[in-house]
Amino acid sequence: MSEMSSFWSGWILILSVGNLLACLWLVWWSVKKRPGEANAGDVTGHTWDGDLQEYNNPLPRWWLWLFYGTLIFAGVYMALYPWVWDGVLGWTSADKSMRSGAVVSQYENEVQKANDTYGPIYAKYRAVAVADLAKDAEANGMGKRLFLTYCMQCHGSDAKGATGFPNLSDNDWTWGGTPEQIKASIEGGRNAVMPTQAHLGEAAIDQVANYVMSLGGRGDKAKAEAGKAIFTGAGGCIACHGPDAKGNPLMGAPNLTDNTWLYGASEGVIKKTITGGRNGVMPAHKALLGDDKVHLLTAYVYSLSNK
Ligand code: HEC
Ligand code: HEC
Repeated sequence: MSEMSSFWSGWILILSVGNLLACLWLVWWSVKKRPGEANAGDVTGHTWDGDLQEYNNPLPRWWLWLFYGTLIFAGVYMALYPWVWDGVLGWTSADKSMRSGAVVSQYENEVQKANDTYGPIYAKYRAVAVADLAKDAEANGMGKRLFLTYCMQCHGSDAKGATGFPNLSDNDWTWGGTPEQIKASIEGGRNAVMPTQAHLGEAAIDQVANYVMSLGGRGDKAKAEAGKAIFTGAGGCIACHGPDAKGNPLMGAPNLTDNTWLYGASEGVIKKTITGGRNGVMPAHKALLGDDKVHLLTAYVYSLSNK
């Protein structure tokens, strides 16, 4: 395998051949009778717990044959398939037709084939506006399959998210819910920066946290009153969350007055956010997926909260 460095080839060679030889030696060693050893079937003279005796019984035949079988299998496999040499079969994960020129891996070749098949379908949908596409059941089916492949691991199979990963089905957006904004989130990714406010000190953080809670009708009234002054003044929270605390989609600063929380609603979690800061990262997908798939995904996400 030409792509593999000789260091790794050598390493694999030593490991696999060494392992085989060690196994062969083990069988040879355990089958051989050594001088002074008890005859097969006799007790060895070792006794435990008063009457528990060790017999020198040979390994069961079937087990031994199974062991020989695995050794032979490994040897044959190593002869047939490529590892440090090309193997008797000449099998390769690269497409053979491409072997003389640039080597294209089996994976890349399959991606190319899929693109040839589905490309025209994607392109057809690309021409339809997101809001209209969101009403197309077939397009949404394709969008959903893409979502389950590329987005589910973070946003959940139902797109309802998890702590730190936003719910995409509730029409509550930190970066905006228009087709253009959703597409921008998917294409370019998002990087939310909530800087640490530890410098305010524990007492002030306690107060401003209670002010945040008061926006949803919770928390200690006196602390919230003091906290409001910090929120709009020394804390500088309004620079990002806005004077009314309703957030700013340009910075991904969430609305703090609704009852939707990315990191959690409890006093402890709110204090933790203010003290430690947060840095939610949505990875960019444009290069990975291309325009057509992003368009379908945008329509699917849009459809979840715009029935
Ligand atoms: C590695 C995890 C991860 C993957 C994969 C991922 N996302 Fe995200 N996404 C996030 C995080 C985290 C945020 C929130 C960023 C923040 O804190 O504001 C987010 C935010 C978003 C937003 C903005 C939500 C809002 O309220 O404005 C959209 C839209 C979105 N993701 C769609 C998708 C789609 C579609 C995919 C699949 C192509 C996807 N995401 C894949 C982690 C991920
Ligand atoms: C530089 C802009 C900026 C400043 C200043 C800022 N925030 Fe934030 N805040 C953000 C961003 C952006 C997020 C979202 C973080 C994420 O998605 O990872 C956030 C998230 C939060 C959250 C979590 C919301 C949730 O849904 O879980 C709370 C609570 C919060 N901020 C309170 C405050 C308070 C109180 C202050 C002032 C002491 C403050 N922020 C100052 C930008 C800011």
